[in-house]
Amino acid sequence: MTTTHTGLDVRKIGGRIGAEVVGLDLSTPLDAGTVSELTAALLAHKVLVFRGQHLDDAGQVRFAAAFGPLTTAHPTVPALDGNEHILPVEGGEGARANNWHTDVTFVHTPPKASTLRALIVPPYGGDTLIANTAAAYADLPEELRLLADRLWAVHTNDHDYATHPQFRTDEAVERHKVFVSRRYSTAHPVVRVHPESGERGLFIGGFAQRLVGLSHTESRDILRLLQSYVTRPENTVRIRWSSGDLVLFDNRITQHYAADDYGDLPRRLHRVTVAGDVPVGVDGRRSHVIEGDEADHFTPKAA
Ligand SMILES: [Fe+2]
Repeated sequence: MTTTHTGLDVRKIGGRIGAEVVGLDLSTPLDAGTVSELTAALLAHKVLVFRGQHLDDAGQVRFAAAFGPLTTAHPTVPALDGNEHILPVEGGEGARANNWHTDVTFVHTPPKASTLRALIVPPYGGDTLIANTAAAYADLPEELRLLADRLWAVHTNDHDYATHPQFRTDEAVERHKVFVSRRYSTAHPVVRVHPESGERGLFIGGFAQRLVGLSHTESRDILRLLQSYVTRPENTVRIRWSSGDLVLFDNRITQHYAADDYGDLPRRLHRVTVAGDVPVGVDGRRSHVIEGDEADHFTPKAA
């Protein structure tokens, strides 16, 4: 049986990003009409929240696959036993994603969308913040926008965590070794044109380590300046999790951050990502690999 639905109940939860889809049951397969309505809602709101769904792993995989071919769990981090698409997200030492990032941008074809499903959530803290990078771009003064349009950034999974205190424990060092067990480095346009909506968004985040043609120091200062527009509170929405919730976000035009404010309390999410395409800048040039392979074991080739 499929769920037939016409006229989704989509309620905005932030001024510039985010909506909750109310009254849709994701426990059965969705019909094509509902999927196209959800796709339109995702393009408009960039983040869709589905409360209290309590899907299992297979249900999350089926939901994500409605939006396109899936990636495997991660280019370097092992999948959950028994399901190659599921990346367990846990708050162990060195595993907390409390930095603003877009998922897996160090490869040539980063995921188009990510789904996160809450299995265990702490009684307080552990929220996920998600930012609208198109709103950030639109907020730039014209002179900065013109600069950003021309810039390219090198994204890599192998940046220097070594000095950060969270990477000093044995567990954290081991986790980092796995994370960089294959090195990837890709040049992406700093301003990405969204392949479906045509919107321009800042495509930077935590894996963007330097700017092509600029020194390390210059890169850091300019990236920090651009990033400050992404993380403006007006451009973000904050998701307070309950167990059973599912969130879908457009990874081509958002960044996200997992607040590390829950101490040693357990928190567990499962992530499944939908395969994307090669980013394109405002002049039509596409991203290119600097180091590493095309990550074919992670993401299917774009059509
Ligand atoms: Fe992430």
